[in-house]
Amino acid sequence: MTQPLFTPAKAGAIEASNRIVMAPLTRNRADNDTGKVSDMHVDYYRQRAGAGIIITEATQISPEGKGYLQTPGIHTPGQAAAWRRVTDAVHEAGGKIVVQLWHVGRISHTSLQPDGQQPVAPSAINAGVKTFTANGFENTSDPRALELAEVPRIVADYANAAKLARDAGFDGVEVHGANGYLLDQFLKTGSNHRTDAYGGPVENRAKLLLEVMEAVTKVWDAGRVGLRLSPFSPANGISDDNPQDTFEYVIKELNRFDLAYLHMVEGATGGSRDLQDGQSIDKLRKLFDGPYMANNGYDREMALQAVKDGDADFIAIGRPFIANPDLVARYERDLPIAQGDQSTYYGGGREGFTDYPEYIAEAAE
Ligand SMILES: Cc1cc2nc3c(=O)[nH]c(=O)nc-3n(C[C@H](O)[C@H](O)[C@H](O)COP(=O)(O)O)c2cc1C
Repeated sequence: MTQPLFTPAKAGAIEASNRIVMAPLTRNRADNDTGKVSDMHVDYYRQRAGAGIIITEATQISPEGKGYLQTPGIHTPGQAAAWRRVTDAVHEAGGKIVVQLWHVGRISHTSLQPDGQQPVAPSAINAGVKTFTANGFENTSDPRALELAEVPRIVADYANAAKLARDAGFDGVEVHGANGYLLDQFLKTGSNHRTDAYGGPVENRAKLLLEVMEAVTKVWDAGRVGLRLSPFSPANGISDDNPQDTFEYVIKELNRFDLAYLHMVEGATGGSRDLQDGQSIDKLRKLFDGPYMANNGYDREMALQAVKDGDADFIAIGRPFIANPDLVARYERDLPIAQGDQSTYYGGGREGFTDYPEYIAEAAE
């Protein structure tokens, strides 16, 4: 009998040929000045079109939303045209691809910001982490708190990026609400000390995220809009006094949109799946009415089991997709999994990006 993991499924209006999703993976290989992807990206994503859905590397919605060297953008027509070549290639290869819409907030450096300005954040609190600039790893710069009057501009930037994503031929968009970036910074108490309508109680801290979802679902059918959250992850120096309550509120509110999927990083991003007392991913997952996409540390066995047991509709796999372009075929046939070279994860050229072979090719060498 075919394992449910390998059977087609719908994420809202997105029809996936299987339930294995390529998780978003920043690879820092776009043109740093134009934010455009290139031929390399066309090949890289085409090679991975066997995924039920590809979620692109995080892609900034505005120049201000950028926080690392050589990440791609989706705020100019030129960037959308460059992405169009990627989406065409993935579609020709039978795959589906959504773009992850990203604003880094305080996880940035003045050297990456327009006119060397300060990064923006809910509050003027440095995350105390590193980012990657032209000078290598550097401390994040002190951010400034967004003025109340600036918030509509941020929402408009998401809407503009969502429109360009349509021009670029994507199958949908994923709003990046995870990993300590702008939307997560607003949600969580450690980074949001505002005293206006966007700070204080969870209803206020969740306001920006919900306004962004509202705006993006006006541009796209909600069945083509996903959201990524990481309730319990400390990624990028983020913390919350009571993440369970915060995210129970957020997820209940999300149900009004009828989204394509909710994508959750279960535990610490790229780290432990263990939670503290009183924290439950299961409880959060069950509050969501739509398709549930699980991520973080899943191997083949865990993915098979979670989908078979009905604990997840989709499993997003990150790191293993780097060195195994044909990951779905390998899982399906239980073939060996190659290990990626971490020194080429971030930045560089084709090496460690487009030169990982498929299993068959590897065996024939
Ligand atoms: C090289 C690398 C780049 C990543 N870039 C992103 C990103 O752009 N957006 C995002 O939401 N998560 C990003 N992540 C987190 C992954 O999507 C994923 O949550 C994490 O690797 C855990 O999943 P895994 O155990 O299947 O790898 C990145 C992780 C790695 C290792």
